[in-house]
Amino acid sequence: MTGAGTEIGKTYVTCALARQLRAAGRAVRAFKPVATGMVEPDDPAFQHSDAAQLLAAQGLPHDETTIAACTPWRFAAPLSPDMAAAAEGHRLELANIVTWALDAIQQVSADTVVLIEGVGGVMSPIASDGLNIDLIAALACPAILVGGSYLGAINHTLTALAAMRARGVDVLGLVVNETFGSPVDFAATVASFARFGPDVALMTLRHGEASIGGMRDLLT
Ligand SMILES: Nc1ncnc2c1ncn2[C@@H]1O[C@H](COP(=O)(O)OP(=O)(O)OP(=O)(O)O)[C@@H](O)[C@H]1O
Ligand SMILES: [Mg+2]
Repeated sequence: MTGAGTEIGKTYVTCALARQLRAAGRAVRAFKPVATGMVEPDDPAFQHSDAAQLLAAQGLPHDETTIAACTPWRFAAPLSPDMAAAAEGHRLELANIVTWALDAIQQVSADTVVLIEGVGGVMSPIASDGLNIDLIAALACPAILVGGSYLGAINHTLTALAAMRARGVDVLGLVVNETFGSPVDFAATVASFARFGPDVALMTLRHGEASIGGMRDLLT
């Protein structure tokens, strides 16, 4: 699960997808291996964290074990992971995230859908030595790209898509997630993606809705 930018709706879409898959009878595990801007679990603000939301969408409780299993690398500074790790005197190696993710995938049953949320946008750093796109390429897993409907979203999203394609990433679909308060018409934005976007499965999510439109093919 990657994005055309940060705060684009990756967690919201991942949670919606997890809930839809579970409602359709599928087993789901959702991970966010690296997170920044994290507070301790006993802080009331923790409930807003990606880990808390992903655990809730899986119907899992929040405790030390489930949080560590969902998000093993947690940093306090609200910065990109390389900078947030450096602020705590650490260096975050991409190879360690790749090894952890492959292990996490291996530990679930073969019919479990594994969703892995990155950090920021597809070309944002996720480690001291790698970008989200490097993690996707190393895992050789299909990616779902989340884009918005703000003015400029088509440029950001199609650029992200082009970068993923150039890298040989298998793009499973594009979720156009409605940007709250955007003056740009949502249906017109989706139509633009259909017109200008290369051959990609289009899905849509309106603001405040829980169900991703066009997800049927992905579910089967
Ligand atoms: N379709 C939607 N309807 C309602 N609220 C949404 C929707 N999409 C995103 N949001 C809200 O917008 C904010 C940003 O979304 P979200 O946290 O999912 O982004 P993100 O891409 O995961 O961000 P980050 O880069 O920090 O991981 C959150 O408060 C989220 O609840
Ligand atoms: Mg998120």
